[in-house]
Amino acid sequence: MNILVAGGAGYIGSHTCVALLEAGHTVIVADDLSQRKSGTLELVQRITGRKIIFHLVDVTDEAATEAVFAKYDLEGVIHFAGLKVVGESLTKPLAYYYNNLVSTMVLAKLCLKYGVERFVFSSSAAVYGANQIPFVESMPLLPATTPYGESKVMSERILADTAQAEPGWSVALLRYFNPVGAHESGLIGETPAGIPTNLMPYITQVAKGKLDKLQVFGDDYPTVDGTGVRDYIHVMDLAEGHVAAVEKLTPGVHVYNLGTGRGTSVLQLVRAFEEANGLRVPYEIGPRRLGDIPACYADTTKAQRDWGWTSKRTLADMCRDAWRFAR
Ligand code: UFG
Repeated sequence: MNILVAGGAGYIGSHTCVALLEAGHTVIVADDLSQRKSGTLELVQRITGRKIIFHLVDVTDEAATEAVFAKYDLEGVIHFAGLKVVGESLTKPLAYYYNNLVSTMVLAKLCLKYGVERFVFSSSAAVYGANQIPFVESMPLLPATTPYGESKVMSERILADTAQAEPGWSVALLRYFNPVGAHESGLIGETPAGIPTNLMPYITQVAKGKLDKLQVFGDDYPTVDGTGVRDYIHVMDLAEGHVAAVEKLTPGVHVYNLGTGRGTSVLQLVRAFEEANGLRVPYEIGPRRLGDIPACYADTTKAQRDWGWTSKRTLADMCRDAWRFAR
């Protein structure tokens, strides 16, 4: 298939490009490179030995994006383009709503205009809010705790309503849990600008000695050891989930969790990282972080039942691959 990957130079996008190329698809990337140093796509080509077609495009720019739709006979769109620093969305809500919603609407509108039937959207477990665990796709959503999460809820709604009104259009809403790790080659991975806000990149910077110690945000949650519990998933497992989605989509709107179904606390992740890599990660307990929920993990039965997709890589793989890339 000819697949447009919007935001394909980003963390999850670039790993998905690897998985798509390895599955034999033609990949056209539209990315404004605002969140990424250039060079990532060259590394994706090196890993796969295959070519990527690249357009330097901000997908909130409808005219520039339309030129890409007009040039290729696209069969699917995977939409990763957007802002994703959850805490930052509290201080820059307008930027988050603008980028994340306009990009979704431009891409959806052009899909309908050019007859592109498959649309895969990067959603987030953030749409569940502080629901009961495990999170199941059929749950009524609770208010998201941040503008970032709310922008995902709204995008889901826009796409679901559009799919309902356009018989034949296929939409997958993929709710990611916590993607971590890097491609096994160590060539591509997560490179947050400045001081990382997510746990795994913070841990790797502490392990490298670039940061002093990890602040654990709260140890008084009702969890196994009081620290926050999340469902960490290897980014290549997540990438392979996108290939399954774009290949197996049928008309209508379909919601899928992409997680492992296992919860891991902050301290359990620190220990797993230390064991996998033979290192110490100094930490101290600090206060809770605004907007955090105590625990979340996925019910993953739907993706397994419908697509035969399930995560394959272990927590130790995630820790080893994250460290190989960071080194
Ligand atoms: N944490 C720390 N110290 C840190 C960073 C994080 O203790 O320096 C803790 C958090 O409190 C939380 C856990 O580590 O308990 C994971 O935090 P992350 O920031 O890595 O991830 P979040 O679960 O907050 O957010 C992630 C994605 C979002 C997505 C959300 C959905 O980054 O895009 O999962 O559940 F919306």
